[in-house]
Amino acid sequence: MKQSHDNQTRERHEHGVSARHCLDRRQVLLTGGAAVTMIALNGVPSIGIAAPLHALKADYPRQKIGRISALKTGAPIEFTYPYGNVSNILVRLGVPAGAGVGPQQDIVAFNQICTHMGGPLQDTFKKEHQILGPCPLHLTTFDLTRHGMVVSGHATESLPQIVLETVGDDLYAVGVMGLVYGYAANVAARRA
Ligand code: FES
Repeated sequence: MKQSHDNQTRERHEHGVSARHCLDRRQVLLTGGAAVTMIALNGVPSIGIAAPLHALKADYPRQKIGRISALKTGAPIEFTYPYGNVSNILVRLGVPAGAGVGPQQDIVAFNQICTHMGGPLQDTFKKEHQILGPCPLHLTTFDLTRHGMVVSGHATESLPQIVLETVGDDLYAVGVMGLVYGYAANVAARRA
């Protein structure tokens, strides 16, 4: 038992050290070994760039997370993905959103860990503004209509967006855009 604990501690230490020495968050998205692809963003206003904007998306095993007909506007439900300890919300915003699915393209899903320093964003959804936050630690808010973009606060990175697909009435999570806070790569175990 003790040996197992020591091995886990050593693995976490080595993993953390290598990640700190070699990779920043953008690099690990590029080199993490996941099936990372480029997908076009939609719902983001034009800023005078001729080419479409792209985001990095990591594919994970498809997981059913709910049904369109069961979602009420502004009433999020929680689910875990891509790992059992990573909490997200699935919500029908009532207005079209970037990467939104469903008949109104207003159904989105986002991770609930603040990208600044990992603050908990549970129960902070504001349906009147379609935002998640403010984070209880340093007050960052994230716009769920625009791929989790930072509205205000200390965070500089958008909230990871869960990529959704629909099959009839069923909703599936199939990937993640962005890197969940605390993870060194999109396929790695949680960093200590
Ligand atoms: S941890 Fe959320 S704003 Fe700092």
